[in-house]
Amino acid sequence: MTGPTELARRFGTPAYVYDLDRVAAARDDLFAALPDEVAVFYAAKANPHPEILRELRTGTPRGTDGSHSTRDTHSSRDTQSSRDTHGTRACRAEISSVGELDAVLRAGYDGGEVLYTGPGKTTGELAEAMTRGVRMFSVESLGDLRRVGETAVRLGVTADCLIRVNNATGAAATSIRMTGVPSQFGFDSETLPGLAAELREVPGTTLAGLHFFPLSNAKDEASLVAEFRHTIATAAALRDALGVPFRFVDIGGGFAAPYAVQGHRPAYGGLRDALTASLDEHFPGWRDGAPRIACESGRYLVADSGTLLTTVVNVKDSRGTRYAVLDAGINTFGGMSGLGRILPVSVEPHESVGTDGPPAHLAGPLCTPGDLLGRAVPLPDPAPGDLLTVPNAGSYGPTASLLMFLGRPAPAEIVVRGDDLVSVSRIQHIRTYEHGQAL
Ligand SMILES: Cc1ncc(COP(=O)(O)O)c(C=O)c1O
Repeated sequence: MTGPTELARRFGTPAYVYDLDRVAAARDDLFAALPDEVAVFYAAKANPHPEILRELRTGTPRGTDGSHSTRDTHSSRDTQSSRDTHGTRACRAEISSVGELDAVLRAGYDGGEVLYTGPGKTTGELAEAMTRGVRMFSVESLGDLRRVGETAVRLGVTADCLIRVNNATGAAATSIRMTGVPSQFGFDSETLPGLAAELREVPGTTLAGLHFFPLSNAKDEASLVAEFRHTIATAAALRDALGVPFRFVDIGGGFAAPYAVQGHRPAYGGLRDALTASLDEHFPGWRDGAPRIACESGRYLVADSGTLLTTVVNVKDSRGTRYAVLDAGINTFGGMSGLGRILPVSVEPHESVGTDGPPAHLAGPLCTPGDLLGRAVPLPDPAPGDLLTVPNAGSYGPTASLLMFLGRPAPAEIVVRGDDLVSVSRIQHIRTYEHGQAL
């Protein structure tokens, strides 16, 4: 009932299928790979689908309908364990917009479980976040910190601020590094100590700790461990240099997952002990929450839960190159790419019985040569109507694609739990007028 052919027949393509059992397995594997005391923020940008958000929060008490008043007793839950009374561990949420805030609150997260990050937080969105209960913010510059503080003072609350650090050096191999270079993200680690006095004196804020996110998709466990060790040592050095007793240190992520190719999530069998040893060395009180330690993950938690179903619309040969034109392009699966970045997509044919043909370029339906999902992909002789599946497509899917470009409908998003169908939904684009509606 929930096989690709049946789902494509019932709900059409392009469509994503997300299996909540696999989300739960990834969540449990990640928690098992980390020391018990370490909290995990799920990066909602990886997949903000409501049922996925809920699955990752499973185990924590349901808290809110999303509405909060200010001047209340909200404070970030930085000293709480990530275990609930039943012993289940659950993710908190890392967000970067009020849209993501809305999504996580609707999915049952409490504002106090949320970390708000991003280099361009406006006073409007900061006010909305604080009004809805968010108290923990990653700050990327002095201007950002002051904006958080002004908003907090105006609303009569105090914001717990984590100083995001752009470390001068890194340790791990990865294709996606976010520090060590000039960047809109974070304070440069080498000049940060000189700002200590200014950082401490911003009304409306407390300097709660540090935030690192140096890389995504670390090459292997050794790289991930090396980067975490480096981050923890840097955090300890900055604690000493800044003279601030941190309550919270978010050491970032880099947990890897295959993306649109065959493969499995890595196992991190040595990470728990390596982190424990490094934290014991540099932060002796961490087991008692002084400071509380957190990690972040997006792709590892959701990538392997998702499969993209797409149908071949047309096949053509042009000057010796075969094109399979699909109903899914970079409007459906852009992988944060915009134009021109080709994913290493692998596909599995489901209905084609053709013999092997030449490899085909996988083109989408958009009127731009940039709409290519893959080059020279091995494919049995494709024909219009053939169903293809792209594996490991649960992260950075619809919301990381050019969803509105050329006005095609968003793909269906089908949620299953094993063999059971849970929901089918589709993001709608609507235009709302505030002024001057056309007659
Ligand atoms: C601050 C932050 N946290 C978490 C993530 C999630 O990264 P990944 O999906 O590689 O785990 C990102 C990705 O860009 C990020 O910028």
